[in-house]
Amino acid sequence: MTKKDIFVRRFNEHTLCKARPVKIKKGFNEAESTLLSYISPHVDLDQTILELGCGDGYWMDTLKKFGYKNIIGLDFLEESINYDGFDIRVVDITKPFDLGKKVDFVLASGIFMHLDRCEAVEAVKNTHAVMKRHTKLCLLDHVVKSTKENETFVYLRNLESWEEIFYGFKLLDVCNENERFTTVDSGNPDLYILIWERT
Ligand SMILES: C[S@@+](CC[C@H](N)C(=O)[O-])C[C@H]1O[C@@H](n2cnc3c(N)ncnc32)[C@H](O)[C@@H]1O
Repeated sequence: MTKKDIFVRRFNEHTLCKARPVKIKKGFNEAESTLLSYISPHVDLDQTILELGCGDGYWMDTLKKFGYKNIIGLDFLEESINYDGFDIRVVDITKPFDLGKKVDFVLASGIFMHLDRCEAVEAVKNTHAVMKRHTKLCLLDHVVKSTKENETFVYLRNLESWEEIFYGFKLLDVCNENERFTTVDSGNPDLYILIWERT
């Protein structure tokens, strides 16, 4: 996977609204409300959230606006990182990394679809090592392969392959059940959310 194979794209409102919606609003759009509704029950505002593959920091900004004070972002592309005021580190998550502390929650939005099986296994192992026991990880990924030219490196996974990759984690919640794990390889990209607990 080369740098040009990676693109920074955000799951748009249309996509995220297909997840089970929970009202958060108060200045947050539907997509932000949906994601916050999955994250906020699992982590307190003064605990530490880690975002894997944070890109331009959109979700870090959303979390900060919601009230989270301790957010760390990792991305291996320095050029993706152009966001003042955040603790963003240049890290390839498929290689072991040390944050100097253990985190209380992990957000992985749109990153695992770029990793092949071996890379994903390594990334999960490395992430497991920086999480406290019984903390949660929110995974957002595509249901179907995108038809956009620059998205051809998206890896599709079914529940069985996710459970093999997430060794050391227990699956707690799946949203967007109706459309998850389809094998359709064309059409608009769609999204599902999996919540994992580190054992
Ligand atoms: C589709 S973008 C998602 C950005 C952001 N999380 C969001 O949801 O808007 C994927 C991001 O993952 C990063 N990425 C891909 N593989 C990575 C790796 N092995 N280590 C760290 N970051 C990686 C890319 O540089 C890119 O910024």
